[in-house]
Amino acid sequence: MARRIFAVLAALALPGCVEATIAWTNLKPDGPVAAPALSYQGVEDWEANGAPQARAQLQRHVYGFMPDRASSRVIGKITLNEDAFGGAGLVEEYRIGATMTYGGREVETVSRDGADGFFMDVVSPKGEGPFPVILMETFCPRWSTIPDRGVAGAPEKPEKRGGFSLGTYIFGRYICTPPIEEILSAGYAVATIFPSEFIPDEKEEGLRALARLTEGYSDNETRLGAIGAWGWAYSRMIDILETDPRFDKSAMIAWGHSRYAKAALVAAAFDARIDGVIAHQSGTGGASLNAGKKGESIKGITGNYPHWFARSYAQDDLSGFDQHMLLALIAPRPILLGNARRDVWSDPNGAFRAARGADPVYALYGSRGLDQPRLKPYDPAADIAFWIRPGTHGVVKEDWPAFLDFLNAHFAPKVETNGGRDISAGRK
Ligand code: GCU
Repeated sequence: MARRIFAVLAALALPGCVEATIAWTNLKPDGPVAAPALSYQGVEDWEANGAPQARAQLQRHVYGFMPDRASSRVIGKITLNEDAFGGAGLVEEYRIGATMTYGGREVETVSRDGADGFFMDVVSPKGEGPFPVILMETFCPRWSTIPDRGVAGAPEKPEKRGGFSLGTYIFGRYICTPPIEEILSAGYAVATIFPSEFIPDEKEEGLRALARLTEGYSDNETRLGAIGAWGWAYSRMIDILETDPRFDKSAMIAWGHSRYAKAALVAAAFDARIDGVIAHQSGTGGASLNAGKKGESIKGITGNYPHWFARSYAQDDLSGFDQHMLLALIAPRPILLGNARRDVWSDPNGAFRAARGADPVYALYGSRGLDQPRLKPYDPAADIAFWIRPGTHGVVKEDWPAFLDFLNAHFAPKVETNGGRDISAGRK
């Protein structure tokens, strides 16, 4: 297992995220402003004209078109451990069945072994809730994300957690496993899937799975790519969780790192049930603007990962839209954009300029939006919170405290009722 994870992490490193780590990001905004400017008369004007246009352009030029309809169901659900993480949490496994429909053709998701659907693991704090939920997609198979002995993939002999490995050395100690005990004790549940189980993160296999799921869609140029499909998968988690009174429907937060940060932003832009986003180092095709691009080029990303986007993204027709529109579609819901100074591959400056470009739409809703003139200091209570730390691409020890500060500012669970949320705390 450890070898497999290392192979995945090493493959991630190759195309470039560790390649561009010698340069430093300028903490002063630097580069062209986001275009077109998002100036609308008010919320109504934005929602009637701006938002539908932004959604259409991003689908046509970047991600491909979302299905006409989707459905989800629970195929099976079992409790894996009632007393996990030192007695702090309950671990449950769901098998979710989901369909995509295009042009009247409904297709079921299947995992790589041919079975219907995919797994979702949910860890919740003890108590009744309702708990805010951190929805996660990661690079790492199930046990590596939720290292409980009940979760499939657990080694015979429990391995020491948090030990040294080359993968965690390069990409940080939390690259696979979040600090679950801290998250539980802060009052949040975690729901996680391994998207590669059913939309493989591989060129040929990924494209094959996507072609199958979108069978009723005829245009190859604008067919949905994996980033859009992984985004769609966050929504399938919510379909199931929102029917369960233990979970707080008004506090569903999509968390993702890197390629899954791109997917988390897409999820929130296309599904209003997502109440907040933590998009850490989302980079090209995520929060970073195409205009004035530093780090990973569009030619590079579409060449290395031909299964991630609509084919049209490779065509260099980037006029008339940019990634600030993706952020604006999330307004007024809180977004945290995580960055690192040496992660110029993900272009923190481009993400900052995109946040600035989305800010006028947040203002239409009377929300604070981006409230800082430079990439620092971090204000976790802002609605577009911008976090930059020293170091490189990965999820390191400073990141989760910053994520939890953001979550607590916007979605703090009510400690005294052991669940629920004090909405007066950070929300406007
Ligand atoms: C590669 C890719 C990035 C991506 C990253 C990741 O570096 O070029 O676009 O964000 O992998 O997912 O870690």
